[in-house]
Amino acid sequence: MPLSKADAVLQPPLTPSEEPLPAHRFTSSGPLTGRLRVPGDKSISHRAIMFGALAVGETRVTGLLEGEDVMATAAAMRAMGAQILRRAPDERGIAEWSVHGVGVGGLLQPAQALDMGNSGTSTRLLMGILASHGVTASFTGDASLSGRPMRRVIEPLSKMGASFEASLGGTLPLMMRGALPAVPIEYRLPVASAQVKSAVLLAGLNTPGITTVIEPVPTRDHTERMLRGFGAELEVEEIDGERVIRIHGEADLKPQQVEVPGDPSSAAFFIVAALITEGSDLVIENVGLNPTRAGVIEVLRQMGGSIEELDRREVGGEPVADLRVKHSALKGIEVDPAIAPSMIDEFPVLFVAAAMAEGTTSTSGLDELRVKESDRLSAMAEALTSIGVRVVEHDDGLDIIGSGGAPLRGSANEPVTTHLDHRIAMSMAVAGLASKDGVEVDDTAPIQTSFPNFTDLLEEAGSAR
Ligand code: S3P
Repeated sequence: MPLSKADAVLQPPLTPSEEPLPAHRFTSSGPLTGRLRVPGDKSISHRAIMFGALAVGETRVTGLLEGEDVMATAAAMRAMGAQILRRAPDERGIAEWSVHGVGVGGLLQPAQALDMGNSGTSTRLLMGILASHGVTASFTGDASLSGRPMRRVIEPLSKMGASFEASLGGTLPLMMRGALPAVPIEYRLPVASAQVKSAVLLAGLNTPGITTVIEPVPTRDHTERMLRGFGAELEVEEIDGERVIRIHGEADLKPQQVEVPGDPSSAAFFIVAALITEGSDLVIENVGLNPTRAGVIEVLRQMGGSIEELDRREVGGEPVADLRVKHSALKGIEVDPAIAPSMIDEFPVLFVAAAMAEGTTSTSGLDELRVKESDRLSAMAEALTSIGVRVVEHDDGLDIIGSGGAPLRGSANEPVTTHLDHRIAMSMAVAGLASKDGVEVDDTAPIQTSFPNFTDLLEEAGSAR
């Protein structure tokens, strides 16, 4: 179906903006109150576009996160033959995305390198999908993504028959050739990574036979839930405490109506902001509470945070609730490393909560944080130290000595460095709310990757300047 002119003008830009936004100083202006809604879940949004592009017919998506990472996925799927467009918002203000898929195995060879911007999820999941397509593709990304490890997907996908030429160190830019047919494998995950799990399962979609992933430590399960929803044959069994996931290959995906719930990882910034700002009483609506994502709520409650779930319900096959968060006196705790996979993206902002708690918060088992959009252990240790927080950095975690609720100093002369990492930028913005001098963040542009209206919402909730 060709795009009409009217549809075409509705397309938001699909390439990350090259214009860095100016540095921004975040300061406190009082309690966070009222109600707000964070954008759609990033993980689910990527998958809605990818699986829609692999189904035959039209998938419709509401609540899609319109951030740069998801737009990079949409641009790549378009470059390989899917038709993706955004319809104008309806009378309730809800925009719908329409994805006309090409069918499993039907993606076309892209004419140009696929620019993945800052997005590890786009890169690793697409490498998985293409591993069982007979196409050659090149992947490029920004400086942050070009430093992130890809061997973790290259290794299992090579076993399935795909071939790769990566940069030294197993990083982007890389070129790959998919295998047709690919070979099914049984793969035990050496790292707790939903991206690696998903890459293998997605390669299995167009592979004859059954592809099996064994997951010793459970990670987010959106791929499994959503592939089932799209009609794939996929079984999950618990054997000796491990999850065994089998996908039946040469699957047919059927188009779906997907409603994307609010992103708990984005909500986490507002949860912590309300917990540490005196007088706050904030409701965050429609937050996804999949148990493989909700660890941060449990840990913040252990620290004494008042987080109440209102109106628990299901949205798009995921548990969802409105969260009422009130300012709370937090206490430092030792965070159980076993909970890390269910809050892997929330540690930067948890460190900010810890900086305001009474006593010490200790974390361990967080080696994976060193290979995210930045080395989040060193980036947060450096940023928090620079605003006056006492931090001890270990190989696999941070110990944070909290202020007991007293305001943090803030950044005097030098802004904090975000290292092209959206979650460092937003975490330090939240720290700014609890500081005397405010916190200046050197580059807020990376926030566009996952939470384009973050600063506006913060202002609306009453705290940012
Ligand atoms: C994601 C999985 C996580 C997470 C990332 C999104 C996903 O990465 O950090 O932001 O959508 O599958 P790992 O699975 O590599 O830990």
